[in-house]
Parts: sequence; structure tokens; C-alpha cells
Amino acid sequence: MAQKHTRRSRNVVPAPGKISVALIVNGLETKLEVAPWTTLLDALRDRLDLTGTKKGCDHGQCGACTVLLDGRRINSCLTFAVMKDGAKVTTIEGLGTEGALHPLQQAFIDHDAFQCGYCTPGQICSAVGLIAEGKAKTADEIRELMSGNICRCGGYPNIVAAIQQAMDQTGSMP
Ligand code: FES
Ligand code: FES
Repeated sequence: MAQKHTRRSRNVVPAPGKISVALIVNGLETKLEVAPWTTLLDALRDRLDLTGTKKGCDHGQCGACTVLLDGRRINSCLTFAVMKDGAKVTTIEGLGTEGALHPLQQAFIDHDAFQCGYCTPGQICSAVGLIAEGKAKTADEIRELMSGNICRCGGYPNIVAAIQQAMDQTGSMP
């Protein structure tokens, strides 16, 4: 005997609306309306034109998208903008100015610590976080604690040398 099916229905579920988020980006109070799934990386690049922060893997594996959030380094591709309402974000654009580079920016130039430069903003932001953490004292420790930042050009020896120079300048190395 044929089975009787009861008719079921569902109302169309509307897409979630945009959400307001307030961030302090490189010292500037910034208000945005973003879809809830907008990553901090996309908000910075696509909405605020801060394209210094790079998208590499978009999966938390390369470190190209590293920025500082309330002084701590994070992968902005793994962070939804709406989760960080009220936070202070520092990108590579906020670290120094053309006439007064951040010591790490200068050290990367001094040591030729880049080739294509794609990973460099993330490397520098990550190194700022690393120095603030104060855990790395040796070249090996720098290598270990910077291992989340991949350089496809293989500039690692120069990157480590640049970070050591900046650490020496800021008095964080023994
Ligand atoms: Fe975020 Fe690769 S783009 S870790
Ligand atoms: Fe090219 Fe690092 S300088 S990926």
C-alpha cells in the first residue's frame, strides 16, 4: 500500500543582515557595517583599502595576514571582524611612516629580508608581536616562534637577522 506523505513547508529564511562593528585601526576610530562572516582580513583589505596585509592561504597556515590586535599578533583570516568590536588593530601601515620607519621595517631593509615581499608585512607584524611577548632570546627561539610565518622565497636567515637587530635595538636580547 502506498505510504501517505504529509505535506511540510518552510518559510524562506532571510540572509542575516549586516552588523555594525567599531574598531580602532592604526589609531583611527573606524565604524563599519559588515556581513557577519566577513573576516578581519577582508574588512581591512576590501573595505578600508589597507592592502598591506596580505591574503595567502586564507586558512591560517601562512601568516601573510598577520596583524596586531590589542598588541597581540593574530591571523586576520581566521578572525571575524564582528568578533572584535572595540579592539585596536595595527597593520603594517600603522607601524611607521615613510620618514620614520619602525625599527623592524628598517631592519628588514638593512638585512635584505625579502625578495618578492608578499610575506613581509605579516613577517614584520608577527615580529613586533614576538618582541612584545619577550619569549625569544636566541636565533633558534626566533625561528621557532616565527614558524607560523611562511616565506616562499626562503628569506629565513635574513628575516632572523633582521629580527635580531631590532631586538638588540629595543634591548630585548641578552
Ligand atoms: Fe591568513 Fe594565510 S592568509 S594565515
Ligand atoms: Fe617572497 Fe617571503 S619574500 S614570500
